[in-house]
Amino acid sequence: MMNRLGDKVAIVTGAASGIGAATVEKFLAEGAKVLATDVNEAGLSRLMESDRDSRLALRSGSVAERADVETIISECVTRFGRLDIVVNSAGITPRTLPPEADIEERWDAVMDINAKGTFLMCHSAVERMRQSGGGSIVNLGSIMSLVSYPTTLPFSDGFSPYPQSKGAVLQLTRDMGIRLAAENIRVNAVCPGFVYTALTENVTETPEVHETMKALHPMGRMAEPSEIANVIAFLASDEASFVTGAAWTVDGGYTAA
Ligand SMILES: NC(=O)c1ccc[n+]([C@@H]2O[C@H](COP(=O)([O-])OP(=O)(O)OC[C@H]3O[C@@H](n4cnc5c(N)ncnc54)[C@H](O)[C@@H]3O)[C@@H](O)[C@H]2O)c1
Repeated sequence: MMNRLGDKVAIVTGAASGIGAATVEKFLAEGAKVLATDVNEAGLSRLMESDRDSRLALRSGSVAERADVETIISECVTRFGRLDIVVNSAGITPRTLPPEADIEERWDAVMDINAKGTFLMCHSAVERMRQSGGGSIVNLGSIMSLVSYPTTLPFSDGFSPYPQSKGAVLQLTRDMGIRLAAENIRVNAVCPGFVYTALTENVTETPEVHETMKALHPMGRMAEPSEIANVIAFLASDEASFVTGAAWTVDGGYTAA
């Protein structure tokens, strides 16, 4: 076990599932204290089942609600005394929504959680990080921050708000990254290819779609959540001390092809 985050306190959003849950595990293994947060309380509680020690705290809440965001951040500071790292992994796709949701409801829900949720967490976190003299924020962008859905995939008709929301996350990352660079607060985006999580479950269950998704990555496969969490841990750590405003692809070559 390494101890790259031994003196750090982190908040991980979207922690009940997928990349967020894998990030909580990785951060604990690297010695961090972690406040894990999500709207899914049952999923959050499962993190405690493998209870290791008092370095993990849970708080439910929505990143799209400003009052919840402020509660999450102050709870972290009350519990662990400071805030050094935020990982914004809470996110949805329109596929998460009921099929009857119309285009405006899809736009609002996806932008609210993916873009506004990331923005609100960053805004409140930076206030606290200034008090500790610095920090590191890692936002979950996507390959869809950088390129559009290929036409070979059946789940976008060109009106999915998902790429737009992830484009916003990347621009927020760049703008904040340069504005905060002189204050020792680094802001980076991880841009994963397709990952096996709840988010992709309802498309990978169709074998032909699954094969198309795998083939879009030159490595010929999709990622496991831990492969994204490993890069998040690096960017969060002091080893990435000269990395800010960056879009860090973790995509098996997808965007290079
Ligand atoms: N899975 C992929 O292929 C993939 C690829 C690129 C980027 N991403 C991004 O990575 C992030 C994590 O996705 P994942 O694949 O682990 O998905 P996931 O569905 O497994 O986990 C997302 C978590 O976010 C939580 N969440 C949803 N709305 C919330 C809200 N309002 N407040 C707090 N939490 C909320 C969900 O309850 C869930 O636990 C997302 O931002 C996603 O867009 C995923």
